Amino acid sequence: MAPKRLRRNSPFVTGDGIQPAAPTTSPLLRAPTELNSDFPWDEFDSYWYYDHNYKTLRDDDRQIIQTVRDFFVTLDPSSHRHGIDVGSGSNLYPALAMLPLCHEITLYEYSTSNISWLQREIQSYSPSWDAFWQLLAVAPLYKSVDSPRATLAAVAQVERGSIFDLPRSRWDIGTMFFTAESISSTPAEFQAALRSFITSLRTGAPFAAAFMEKSLGYDVGTRRFPAVAITVNDVENCLATNTEVLDLHRIGLTENPLRNGYDGMILATGRAA
Ligand SMILES: C[S@@+](CC[C@H](N)C(=O)[O-])C[C@H]1O[C@@H](n2cnc3c(N)ncnc32)[C@H](O)[C@@H]1O
Repeated sequence: MAPKRLRRNSPFVTGDGIQPAAPTTSPLLRAPTELNSDFPWDEFDSYWYYDHNYKTLRDDDRQIIQTVRDFFVTLDPSSHRHGIDVGSGSNLYPALAMLPLCHEITLYEYSTSNISWLQREIQSYSPSWDAFWQLLAVAPLYKSVDSPRATLAAVAQVERGSIFDLPRSRWDIGTMFFTAESISSTPAEFQAALRSFITSLRTGAPFAAAFMEKSLGYDVGTRRFPAVAITVNDVENCLATNTEVLDLHRIGLTENPLRNGYDGMILATGRAA
């Protein structure tokens, strides 16, 4: 077996170890560790989340897209791949990043509100995604896609399911953005979710996964959703045994942070073992 490559792109936060995010209300009112099943995922306000996160292209997403693009352009475009994006929410850019590499893309979601949003949005995506595509299309691989809007409509389909029930060794390429650490405040569920994602990919399958660093949870409209306050060490510890190549990147807080209560973003790229 080829030796594993692990590269860290500095600077990194060290130490701390995995922790449940601190409760934001009285500990008596809110248990410190809540499970994925404790939250009303079907009431996730997809439109609010899209408006807040993706209506315009943020600088941190720009950095992530450039890094994922520069990794994906190194892959052989002639292999016919079935890709998966896990916990898509109302974010289309992970699917757009896989577009020239896949004949089929599964958008795998748990929340019925997000499923409805995705089913509508993939038919002809909103103009706001053009800025994300233009950033990808700097590279000839992406530029060669004739009509990304029509291509996404042709290759993407939405599937309902839980990350904890993903089959093993099914997909040829995978993305998972801000999901494993943002669906529970229980560290063991973060680890189980991340392992489930990586083991759903075939051996050697390329992947890109993004995480909020040290997130304390997040509001979507009037609802509060959970997080595990992870660091880059937690991502590395969890992925180390299931990857043959692992590159870790940290994106610090930008001038205009998305919200309070996180320290930055973490991006992991590589190949599943
Ligand atoms: C913070 S959002 C991330 C959305 C999107 N990927 C992004 O990049 O912004 C977390 C997502 O995980 C989904 N989710 C929650 N529980 C899940 C589960 N058990 N399996 C799969 N997805 C789940 C939510 O519905 C939501 O879309």
